[in-house]
Amino acid sequence: MTNVSRRRLLASGGAAAAAGATFPLWTWSPSASIAGTGEGLDPEYVWDVRADPVIERLYGEGIDKVAEVNEILKGWTTNDQPLPDGLPGYLADFIEEARSLPAWADQGKLQLAGTFNEERYGFFLALLYTLGSGLISCAIKREAWSVYYSYGGANMRDRIAKTTVLGYDVMDAQGWTASGRLMVNSVKTRMVHAAVRHLLPQSPHWPGVGAGQEVPISQADILVTFHSLGTWVMKKFTEWNIAPSQELADAFLHAWNVDLHLLGVQEQYLPKDWASAYAQYDQVMGPATGHTREGVELAQALLDSVIGEGNPLLRHELESLGRYVIGDAYADMIGFDKDPLLAPLWATTVPLLVTSYQGTVPHIPIVSNLLPEAVHTFIKIYFSPGDPAPITLPLSNRPE
Ligand code: HEM
Repeated sequence: MTNVSRRRLLASGGAAAAAGATFPLWTWSPSASIAGTGEGLDPEYVWDVRADPVIERLYGEGIDKVAEVNEILKGWTTNDQPLPDGLPGYLADFIEEARSLPAWADQGKLQLAGTFNEERYGFFLALLYTLGSGLISCAIKREAWSVYYSYGGANMRDRIAKTTVLGYDVMDAQGWTASGRLMVNSVKTRMVHAAVRHLLPQSPHWPGVGAGQEVPISQADILVTFHSLGTWVMKKFTEWNIAPSQELADAFLHAWNVDLHLLGVQEQYLPKDWASAYAQYDQVMGPATGHTREGVELAQALLDSVIGEGNPLLRHELESLGRYVIGDAYADMIGFDKDPLLAPLWATTVPLLVTSYQGTVPHIPIVSNLLPEAVHTFIKIYFSPGDPAPITLPLSNRPE
């Protein structure tokens, strides 16, 4: 466990127990969704009606059976690959259904979304996903709790980074091709989430957290995570004055919607355009975020794993840059350092860097150099965790 100081915990909201969330009435209408219609049920009380019973049945066959399925599925990696033999019939049926793209998926838009990774936006997308969304995920209470107390909590860096990396891959044209891996990894992730719904309520820690939620990872929770990645990044692009063209922004949302479909989110909750996405963001983000001890630890574990334990100066510098990127409210929730000297420096240099990258002023080496090499290194390490472990169904909760 990361050694998080008492001072940091106190500064981030105190040793007081994390407050439960009160969710306002769900008013976002299904008419704003891709489906255009729907029952309009509050997604807070909707989980994955298709995947959950399948995974429940698998775990009912015993943990050895789950381990056997993991072994078989290790060999299933690319989008066009047939499923390996040996899976229980009901599971194979589910995966065949879940791996197919929805009828409304548009290959042209998916390919266009893939150009986001290119030079003009690539650096900022990486910066915002890592030092932005990656940190905000620690301020999303239920995400922090469920990640912390599930199996992956024992290797927190790997766990948090994987969510961001999957989000980043959504903007990678290669991910959607026949030889890509995004569709497979998304379906595997959907199964892992169903497994967490089965396992986590058995954790002795779960009743004490979860903000009153008995079964984790509702459809609302997945929407929150999406908004902390895709929508938040698009808002930031706009705030930093580097918003892409309407066509590219629409393709970005489309790619996310297709991936959310693969993750099991119902079409009645997928925003049909950015205005609908922002409206949904406003509804769900506030109540979902806040201080938790687990979130503070996760954020420190993330820094530990990227820059190593120790190295206090670099840590301080990155915390202060992270604070600039995500803003004081989220930074306070995860107990990040405040630095009155560095704060104005970031406020001056980051916008200059943005302008310089956009080519609207001549490239200014001194400005680029002000963004320390450490940030580039941070992004690089974040996105290259060595040989990425395959996504497998957890066999237990976090070992005690
Ligand atoms: C697992 C991505 C939403 C909690 C995973 C994995 C990925 C991922 C890639 C597999 C990691 C691995 O085991 O190798 C995403 C994406 C999301 C999302 C892209 C939404 C857009 C959520 C939400 C929660 C959550 C909303 C909780 C509130 C977890 C947990 C695990 C997991 C607990 C399993 C950790 C373990 O025990 O190994 N997710 N996730 N995720 N996710 Fe998500």
